[in-house]
Amino acid sequence: MSVFLGIDIGGSGVKGALVDVTTGEVVSERFRVATPRPATPKAVLAVVAEVVAHFAWGSPFGCTFPGVTVNDTISTADNMDPGWVGVDAAAAIEASTGLRVAMLNDGDAAGVAETVFGAGRGLDGTVLLLTFGTGIGSALLYNDTLIPNTELGHLEFRGMEAEDYAAARLVEREDMRIDWWASRVNEFLIYVEHLFTPSRIIFGGGIAKRFDEIAPFLTVATEVVPAALLNNAGIVGAAYTANQRYGRDSND
Ligand code: BGC
Repeated sequence: MSVFLGIDIGGSGVKGALVDVTTGEVVSERFRVATPRPATPKAVLAVVAEVVAHFAWGSPFGCTFPGVTVNDTISTADNMDPGWVGVDAAAAIEASTGLRVAMLNDGDAAGVAETVFGAGRGLDGTVLLLTFGTGIGSALLYNDTLIPNTELGHLEFRGMEAEDYAAARLVEREDMRIDWWASRVNEFLIYVEHLFTPSRIIFGGGIAKRFDEIAPFLTVATEVVPAALLNNAGIVGAAYTANQRYGRDSND
């Protein structure tokens, strides 16, 4: 068993757990701290250090960020503080924890985890994962290869950003009825289906646990399946990526 810590920085919570990266199984309890507001680099870095300390973790780990992340550097932070833009998050985390970290976008992490261990496993062709939460995260994979930072939540849709039209926060924090919301999601899925013609759409985010209530409103032709790893997909994808970058068999 090879275990890595995965941390998932989200718009509402920073969550961490230990993951067996050979099976994708979460092997510890989940530790969650509310995302500080404003979500400045300083405040969020302190929470990441708190999560690391909680697990008494002392080696490389993986961490997601809810914004465009290229070579560990953040270039958008719509649901976080704008102070993140331009920050080399891996260098900042290393400075505060002393540990090396592999950074990637939260939607991408969930997509990797679902493709390797979950609802996209063994599927050839194009797989699209969407996570519905504070925003809408996305991951596009072709034959298991991730095309990172697709950011489909920021597509213009019905005159606004898609995530303002159909993120789960409308249900979870703004009291929209789930059937109204599910119809909006369906419209958005039909739109992305036209763009990518995926073999399968994986429906992720915490609200995926209510998939039974949502499914009756999904008329999109593509098969839509709930994420198998539910809310742990980001954590698992982060840990898996850390193993790929820093594990025993990596060349790093
Ligand atoms: C961000 C994405 C992120 C998504 C879900 C969006 O606002 O731009 O990078 O994946 O929220 O957290």
